[in-house]
Amino acid sequence: MGQGPTGATFFATTPIYYVNDAPHIGHAYTTVAADVLTRWHRQRGDDVFFLTGTDEHGQKVLRTAEANGVAPRVWCDRLVQTAWKPVLATIDAANDDFIRTTEERHTRGVQELWQRIRDNGDVYPSTYEGPYCVGCEEFKLPGDLIEVDGVQVCPIHSRPVEQLSEQNYFFRLSAYADRLLAHYEEHPDAVQPASARNEVISFIKQGLVDISMSRSSFDWGIPVPWDDGHVVYVWFDALVNYASAVGLGTDPERFAQRWPADVHLVGKDILRFHAVYWPAMLMAAGLEPPRRVFAHGWLLVGGEKMSKSKLTGIAPSQIIDHFGSDAFRWYFLRAIQFGQDGSFSWEDMTARYTSELANGLGNLASRVAAMVGRYCDGVLPSASDVGRAEEDVAAALIDTVATADEAMGELRFHDGLAAIYEFVTVVNGYLTVQEPWQVAKRFDTDPSARARVDTTLYTAAEGLRALAVLLAPVLPKAAAELWASLGASAALGGLAGQRVQDAGRWGQLSPGATVTKGAALFPRLEDPPAPSA
Ligand code: MSP
Repeated sequence: MGQGPTGATFFATTPIYYVNDAPHIGHAYTTVAADVLTRWHRQRGDDVFFLTGTDEHGQKVLRTAEANGVAPRVWCDRLVQTAWKPVLATIDAANDDFIRTTEERHTRGVQELWQRIRDNGDVYPSTYEGPYCVGCEEFKLPGDLIEVDGVQVCPIHSRPVEQLSEQNYFFRLSAYADRLLAHYEEHPDAVQPASARNEVISFIKQGLVDISMSRSSFDWGIPVPWDDGHVVYVWFDALVNYASAVGLGTDPERFAQRWPADVHLVGKDILRFHAVYWPAMLMAAGLEPPRRVFAHGWLLVGGEKMSKSKLTGIAPSQIIDHFGSDAFRWYFLRAIQFGQDGSFSWEDMTARYTSELANGLGNLASRVAAMVGRYCDGVLPSASDVGRAEEDVAAALIDTVATADEAMGELRFHDGLAAIYEFVTVVNGYLTVQEPWQVAKRFDTDPSARARVDTTLYTAAEGLRALAVLLAPVLPKAAAELWASLGASAALGGLAGQRVQDAGRWGQLSPGATVTKGAALFPRLEDPPAPSA
């Protein structure tokens, strides 16, 4: 893989999703965040690799397949083809790869990693006796469960755990506590946000116990390389996807180029797997841990984590059919602080759609194109009368780019989008003050009126030019339409080639370009929203 113009590489992942059911907006939330982040890095010119995929082994998927009367592989193929791959198009994700844990390349990666760990002496046979939650696919520790009516219940799934007694291989996790603590000491940003970091550190400080790395009571999984009477425990199979997708076990050269991952985006429910077990596995195999794990919050329904098992899952298409994919992407990253829990409501989404996208950005774009049409015959005028007001807009843009770029790089999407939206407000405010529609009435009487209107419209169009670049990662469809409407390609080339770092350089649009007023970027919502979930 070649290097982008910045010379920087950027490898980001989503969790791989269980195929026991179809995606809901909680899953889409992680994928959208990763997509916006990676599109932002592409827009910076980085050589990006964005990975997502599906987690297909283990008891949870096996039982679902059995309940549906089909072989697990048939079930997985069906769900991947009809639900998990299509949802990526629905939410407009531009992933570079989609890994399935049932693929040969993944099997080879998993077997390579576990063989290395065993060769290093960190695997031994033993018996696991204790609780297991199939919903979490997790060996539960004493502090993990709650008691309801005398029964030990998983607090995430509100279901009783199962008691296992199984001959397994164990991973010597206990040997890695000190190395993990030293690693996090040395790399304070390796787990974010701070609440997640604190949780991880205190979990490690409580002491780590060795953990089963295999299962022997069913065979839906990847055979343990030294004993085919066992399959690799599903989490210790799934986590390896991040490495097998970039060549572990199949293409050492590529692996060396891409590893370690720059960031694993995960929901806070699976933090321990990513920030404790996974780095320990990598260390045990002599490989580097990921550079960063970012744990985001949950989408809540009625104060609880949205989930299909609790029948609170909303399919992304239920929202996107009504608002469009751009608005979906905008809403979830703008309305919820990344790292915190948040709730979705039709009312809130409708309000933001209307005020920010339809009336804010959409109206600005259509007003400017309409005025260039009306007052300048659709030809972008030049700015010959630049004064303080125009300089203020240009200066505000420089701040916007710096603030947004920093925030997006730190996964503070809400801050990044707030900064960009603030600039929409600046340009709208500039037009309100300049009132080109009033000045245009004086074309016949005031010799300076023409230059004022031209300058105003050029300035607003330049603002939109920069907005198209900054918004392309989050609103890819609207940004592309905006770019086309400004006729920017003729002089500047395609939107994908515009760099975030250059977006603040004022005066890039070429006077003389053909500006066209297309359809509204965000049409007014006419239908009543679909019924709430
Ligand atoms: N298969 C494991 C992950 C293995 S990664 C090596 C898994 N899969 S999952 O299908 O349950 O999806 C988990 C991820 O989906 C969460 O970590 C989170 O990113 C996302 N979400 C699922 N429900 C969610 C919410 N209600 N809210 C926000 N994100 C949610 O765990």
